Amino acid sequence: MARIFSGAQPTGNLHLGNYLGAIRNWVTLQDSYESVFCIVDLHAITVWQDPKALIRQTRELTAAYIAAGIDPERCVIFNQSAVTAHSELAWLLNCMTPIGWLNRMTQFKEKAGKDREKASLGLYAYPVLMAADILAYKATHVPVGEDQKQHLELTRDIAQRFNQLYEKDVLPLPEPMILGAATRVMSLRDGTKKMSKSDPSDYARINLTDDRDTIAQKLKKARTDSEPGVTYEPERRPEVANLIRIYAALDGRTTDQVVADYADAPFTTVKTRLTDLAVEKLGPIAEEMKRLMADPAEIDRILAKGADRARAIADPVVAEVRETIGL
Ligand code: ADP
Ligand code: NA
Repeated sequence: MARIFSGAQPTGNLHLGNYLGAIRNWVTLQDSYESVFCIVDLHAITVWQDPKALIRQTRELTAAYIAAGIDPERCVIFNQSAVTAHSELAWLLNCMTPIGWLNRMTQFKEKAGKDREKASLGLYAYPVLMAADILAYKATHVPVGEDQKQHLELTRDIAQRFNQLYEKDVLPLPEPMILGAATRVMSLRDGTKKMSKSDPSDYARINLTDDRDTIAQKLKKARTDSEPGVTYEPERRPEVANLIRIYAALDGRTTDQVVADYADAPFTTVKTRLTDLAVEKLGPIAEEMKRLMADPAEIDRILAKGADRARAIADPVVAEVRETIGL
């Protein structure tokens, strides 16, 4: 059976981009794929994380997966650091990944900031850990947002190189799945930047746990332009186009349909209706998250059980890789 692997970082501020670009699609996919969904805490620590916050955010992200509709009985839900196969395979793959390939990764350049020499080695090697995450499960498909496309291509390159070096088809090449009407949700403050957990401005994103007033405020302040009318022109009107895409994705319609409905309306009308729509879709998730978070021991049990199931898949794969290498 085809198997999907995907994950998100427990770095807090889970936002609409994570939901529309990733988690919401996983909910649909769990019906047709054997599904492994990870809380990638080892990725999170490539930049500084407060230990107490990390524990809380790991539980919170688990709660978000479940609240969004991922079934922990049918799917494997676990945190990455609980399964040592990830770090072991990452090291093995580090040893056969040319530095030149990593130097081409645009996300590192963005995340490392101006003083690249001070970025951690882990941040630099992040894409190899991601390759290990996927390959440890011999995942056939990887549902991600567009921002992860380059990392997925690298994963395929690493798998292919491994197979070629050892003249053996050990690691299958995974296919990216970039799904939905909002595969790249942009910042509400700047239509050229993606909506991100790490954006210093809270007004740049809508968080899954935002209440109605907060969502209303953020959308009211969301940047648009001074042109009258509602048109979908991603190049010329990126901020307006972003809000139309978000609208379409939340409402299960196309951008054309949204534009047709509001053609002559002032854009504030779109913002008001989008507020209602976001509250309608996110509100129940936030509420269910709160309910789940009231019982952290139960969340920990779900993660422990998931880790057992994850090990049962990943450990034999790492054993096969070790044996292939001669270890
Ligand atoms: P972030 O990039 O916000 O730190 P993660 O790295 O944890 O979030 O990503 C979790 C998932 O959410 C990935 O599949 C990623 O592609 C997706 N994702 C993140 N940001 C966006 C966005 N702005 N639009 C669409 N998908 C996104
Ligand atoms: Na990301």
